[in-house]
Amino acid sequence: MKILLVGSGGREHALALGLKADPKCSELHCAPGNPGIASLAKLHNIAVTDNDGLLNLAKEIGADLVVIGPEAPLVNGLADVLRAAGIATFGPSKAAAQLEGSKDFAKGVMRDAGVPTSHSFTCTTKEEIEKALDSFGAPYVVKDDGLAAGKGVVVTNDRAAALAHGLSCSRVVIEEFLDGPEISLFGISDGRNILPMQPAQDFKRAFDGDEGPNTGGMGAYSPLPWAPDDIVDETYEKVLAPMIAEMAARGTPFIGLLYAGLALTNSGIKVIEFNARFGDPETEVLIPRLVTPLAQLLYKAATDSLDDVALQWSDESAVTVVLASEGYPDSPKTNGAISKIPTIDKTQIFHAGTKAGENGLLSSGGRVMAVTGTGKDLTEARDCAYRAISQIELEGSFYRSDIALNASVAEKGN
Ligand code: AMP
Ligand code: GLY
Repeated sequence: MKILLVGSGGREHALALGLKADPKCSELHCAPGNPGIASLAKLHNIAVTDNDGLLNLAKEIGADLVVIGPEAPLVNGLADVLRAAGIATFGPSKAAAQLEGSKDFAKGVMRDAGVPTSHSFTCTTKEEIEKALDSFGAPYVVKDDGLAAGKGVVVTNDRAAALAHGLSCSRVVIEEFLDGPEISLFGISDGRNILPMQPAQDFKRAFDGDEGPNTGGMGAYSPLPWAPDDIVDETYEKVLAPMIAEMAARGTPFIGLLYAGLALTNSGIKVIEFNARFGDPETEVLIPRLVTPLAQLLYKAATDSLDDVALQWSDESAVTVVLASEGYPDSPKTNGAISKIPTIDKTQIFHAGTKAGENGLLSSGGRVMAVTGTGKDLTEARDCAYRAISQIELEGSFYRSDIALNASVAEKGN
């Protein structure tokens, strides 16, 4: 099977690793990719938003499957263009990707599907915004309706800041604050069936102890020793299956990865958000744990054939820690020299924001690398990840020191 993977981040590096490990994958291509992915796939310098360029590339290489990583090309209709040309594609249509592209749309589908989520109002005027803020009270949760590259959500006790964010959006969703730990639970769907993956937890704040600004994600781990045993079944029954049924009933089946961001509240699980693609950095811990061959799995999803598939997982734990550039997330420095990348057993170094310079590897983004360790438990996995990341040299870079720390302590107590 010849596969084209679209994207260039740590998530795509992890997907490339999984796809390449499947014996059915005969050729792996990636557009545009990064220097880490270059060791697994042939790279093509085509932007993820260039639908025509990517369609031509898929035809040229005779791709049997295209896997779309990031949200931008999904919302841009890349999957529709590829499917119209008869190419099997893992990734939702433009219409189905609205589950990520519009918070208001996602709320409407959840309402129709009976999926538990917070109460919300969608507002366009100052009067509506103020009314919504005052009806919920603090902490205020204010979400830009559209894609905002991780900057669209403000959670604050400061009413003036909540109002200011609301006014800066052309359409805004204001919702009830959900209290409780957050988990990420993904499902792989062919449009009719959805296979839940194992849960993971992401660390969204920049600094230790969940301090500092929101980021794209500073680290993740899986499995979650503290989560209720039935979390996967409950999420499948209450969230994933009804969403897939509702999207199919609307004539816009969701084919690809449905990312449910959940809060475990006192009154059960509630959806915080949906994404229409693999999460980053959760993918960097899930792919190393997934035993089911990835290329065949995603091909079956893309060709409406998941009926008899069950996912298999390794018993090992995985922890990933993100190395971020100085100034991330507000104003990340780029073009720094990266050196001393170690090769350590049970450790994978996924490139995210890197590029090849004349004299070696350079940073090119805020999240530079995700370093994943695996082991028999979270403590071992953490040790591997931290041993590796502490050796990498990039001036001014930083990483959190507490990824999966509480969970590894809890696991020991069990
Ligand atoms: P989102 O982009 O929707 O994932 O929101 C970013 C982050 O804001 C989430 O990971 C949560 O930590 C927080 N958040 C979003 N919605 C809520 C909510 N209703 N209650 C509490 N926190 C929330
Ligand atoms: N881990 C958060 C995201 O992928 O959106």
